[in-house]
Amino acid sequence: MTTIGIIGAGHIGSALARAFSGLGYDVVISNSRGPESLQDLVAELGPKVSAASAYDAAAAGDIAVVTVPLRALRDVPVEPLAGKIVLDTNNYYFERDGHIDALDRGETTTSELVQQHLPASKVVKAFNHILAGDINTTGLPAGAPDRRALGTASDYPEAIEFVTGVYDALGFDTVNAGPLSESWRLERDRPAYVARQTADQLRENLAKANRLP
Ligand SMILES: NC(=O)c1ccc[n+]([C@@H]2O[C@H](COP(=O)([O-])OP(=O)(O)OC[C@H]3O[C@@H](n4cnc5c(N)ncnc54)[C@H](OP(=O)(O)O)[C@@H]3O)[C@@H](O)[C@H]2O)c1
Repeated sequence: MTTIGIIGAGHIGSALARAFSGLGYDVVISNSRGPESLQDLVAELGPKVSAASAYDAAAAGDIAVVTVPLRALRDVPVEPLAGKIVLDTNNYYFERDGHIDALDRGETTTSELVQQHLPASKVVKAFNHILAGDINTTGLPAGAPDRRALGTASDYPEAIEFVTGVYDALGFDTVNAGPLSESWRLERDRPAYVARQTADQLRENLAKANRLP
């Protein structure tokens, strides 16, 4: 069975632990304070979910999720994620993360920063423009007229393929925004951000996004 290693156990990390374990994956989740602090969450989520250090969660995962505040990116373990698909949920909030000039000037994207930090990983933007509370509650069967769509972006087709399968299993259509250099279209303050939208609406919202919000 495939194991998902999750770095970050806050709103998104815990929602994704619930989602992935519900799909039958084994999940190893972590935070900055250590596995002892996650015992209540692990007990609630059941036997497919365990807690570990961030390093051990990264090492245990066949596939990983990085879902920490962007300011903590530099602490995400690099070597145990080499060669792996890494889902990046991160958004940039200068109020929380401090100013990052290259993002402020529209010269890079949050996901490209994650890819730079994890040069041997296959980074894919995922779950960044849906509220944590919506991940396990707003999915619909394939073909439903109002089925919500979520965006993704990656330089690695196999990473897009994995995220597309997960989105579908959770009840969402997928719109591929392209390579990581285009992932700014899914970032904060763009039309697609956190909006509940169908695939057609998401495509329109991606197309009309401005490089600087
Ligand atoms: N909240 C949402 O609805 C939402 C939606 C889409 C995307 N996002 C984005 O996804 C990311 C996570 O958001 P969130 O709302 O889940 O954040 P959050 O609730 O604040 O949780 C952040 C998690 O990251 C952990 N963490 C911090 N530094 C770490 C480190 N060095 N090593 C390992 N774990 C570390 C924290 O652990 P401790 O508590 O032990 O410090 C905590 O478990 C952010 O970039 C956010 O902008 C959020």
